[in-house]
Amino acid sequence: MQNLEIDLPGQRYPIRIGAGILAAHLPAMVGDLARELVVVVTNDTVARLYPDKIEAALAKLPVKVATISIPDGEQYKTFDTLVGIYDKLMEFEANRHTVLIAFGGGVVGDIAGLAAATFMRGIPLVQVPTTLLAQVDSSIGGKTAVNHPRGKNAVGVFKQPKGVLADLEFLSTLPPRELRAGLFELIKHAIIADRDLYQYLEDRSDRFASRDWDFWESAISRSCRVKTRVVEQDEQEGGLRAVLNFGHTLGHLIETHTQYSSYLHGEAVGVGMLFAAFASREWGILPDEGFQRIRRLLQPLIAPVTLPPLDDDIFTRLLLHDKKSSAGALRFIALRGLGDVFIREGTTPAELWPLFERFTGAMPEVCRIAPVF
Ligand code: NAD
Ligand code: GLY
Repeated sequence: MQNLEIDLPGQRYPIRIGAGILAAHLPAMVGDLARELVVVVTNDTVARLYPDKIEAALAKLPVKVATISIPDGEQYKTFDTLVGIYDKLMEFEANRHTVLIAFGGGVVGDIAGLAAATFMRGIPLVQVPTTLLAQVDSSIGGKTAVNHPRGKNAVGVFKQPKGVLADLEFLSTLPPRELRAGLFELIKHAIIADRDLYQYLEDRSDRFASRDWDFWESAISRSCRVKTRVVEQDEQEGGLRAVLNFGHTLGHLIETHTQYSSYLHGEAVGVGMLFAAFASREWGILPDEGFQRIRRLLQPLIAPVTLPPLDDDIFTRLLLHDKKSSAGALRFIALRGLGDVFIREGTTPAELWPLFERFTGAMPEVCRIAPVF
């Protein structure tokens, strides 16, 4: 098992990562916080796969464990679902000493986190992430949110959990597509800040589809270490934390232009990372050798993306709708080399569009724009 710690102003919390660690380590994480009641927020898929898993792990604690299961899917990361969670918490007579456990992927983590942040002005939260994406990214760092019809993750707060417990055995039931989507976020951390991890992943790409828990424990914990280091320096995204958005400029465009219906977030970010590396090379910042290394690792993992018809106007509108844009320009996360990322302020859609056209022309097997008939 790997033990990390994240050290934030006024709060430190543990991140435990390992295979089969739930029963041995969850009681200690929850025990000091809970008086009478622990409420597990999960979704229907995870509840079906792992019924009573948390309850069994906490059986020796003198607390009652109740479960709230929400429907599965990003489309349920809404105010209505959040209100449903409050309703259940009221029904269970939860109070400020109730501990809420987010048991699931990033959707459950984000909405349960927001519920914990706001119910009774805040109750303790423990994250038990069950997808790779949630284990390397969303369970750490305290971002919570629900979607608004006009904006993904439009409403949320920062709410740090009291602890994160990532049991790798949950990954054994994860659909391969979801595993690959999470892998892009794991690789993202290597690209932005850990060359050695990148090399480690290159040397072991044959394990990506495996249940080699030693490999996953090492890869996930090193990836989490990158995220914790960034969040420790900039908890509320005043500046540096934006580097975690590497690949997200094009990633968000892919998601919004396909109405979130065709590609998973991680898949869109995977293509976005390759584009960010491509753009960095075209700007003469990233040597070709660095770009080719990134291409060699990412390309075999990428399922081809086909975008609905797109021209420079639509491209500009989609990019500037992004909440990180201001005054017609955006903060593009660019690369000087592996592990060496920086924020390129003032990047305009007008300079990105020709690069994007070159990118789709050079790599249609990664991303292409459907022709207008
Ligand atoms: P998800 O939560 O939708 O989970 C993906 C699918 O896997 C779902 O169908 C889920 O039911 C299923 N699942 C979960 N655990 C499983 C398991 N062990 N076995 C089998 N199936 C399992 O998606 P995700 O990729 O985990 O998270 C995406 C969400 O995370 C998005 O809403 C995104 O906005 C958010 N996010 C938040 C942050 C943050 O910092 N808070 C960072 C990145 C992403
Ligand atoms: N996933 C990006 C962040 O946590 O800031």
